[in-house]
Amino acid sequence: MDRRNFLKVVAAGATVVAVNPSLIRGNLYASDGTLYKAYEKTQLVDAAGKPIKASALLKEVTYIFNYPYASTPCMLINLPKPTEKEVTLKSESGESYIWKNGIGKERTVVAYVAICTHQMTHPTPNDSFIAYVPKAKKTMAYDKSGVIVCSSHLSAFDAGAGAKVLGGAATQPLQAVVLEHAADDTIWAVGILGQDKFHDYFREFRPEFKEFYGGPAEAKKLVSISAKTVKLTEFTKEIIQY
Ligand code: FES
Repeated sequence: MDRRNFLKVVAAGATVVAVNPSLIRGNLYASDGTLYKAYEKTQLVDAAGKPIKASALLKEVTYIFNYPYASTPCMLINLPKPTEKEVTLKSESGESYIWKNGIGKERTVVAYVAICTHQMTHPTPNDSFIAYVPKAKKTMAYDKSGVIVCSSHLSAFDAGAGAKVLGGAATQPLQAVVLEHAADDTIWAVGILGQDKFHDYFREFRPEFKEFYGGPAEAKKLVSISAKTVKLTEFTKEIIQY
């Protein structure tokens, strides 16, 4: 089975298809889609290579792992309360799709691509303008905390509802990482939901790829087997958050 095929696009106004990992491997393959793409099933592991357990994730801490490419950072967050379920989201081009829910025993664990859908601000080893803002902190981007904020132009995304836009310059949700939660509490990334930003990202940040990943070809390598997952504070030197 070719897991890189696309799931069928759900056009605006058409019946919305819930994207469920079990369906991804089922009959919903199509070659004309853009809103869901299955990538290599990859286990999230810590810096020592030990599998991360969902129940061991600290609450409201932003963790970073690179997926589905060696240079594309994603955020993993264990939220303070269960996420919403079956959230209908809309891409910039007007296509609807459904983000299922968080994973883990309490449905609190979520992952999103940490590349802002406005102008692609993303964490690098030098600095990060995008992160989850815990409930106890304030942000200038939104009147409530417990949201993901890109401090470049103050966009806020709903961490518990598929990263839909709450405010600011962004006009579509962050891409979501589709996660699977295994019976042994381990976490696996299996695909990406939402409008693809990776190709623009690869075009825009070529110089950075040389600095951090050895070059554009290395940066575009697909991640497989496992993805090292560390706290944002360990991934980057400086976090800028307004
Ligand atoms: S790049 Fe994120 S809000 Fe502009």
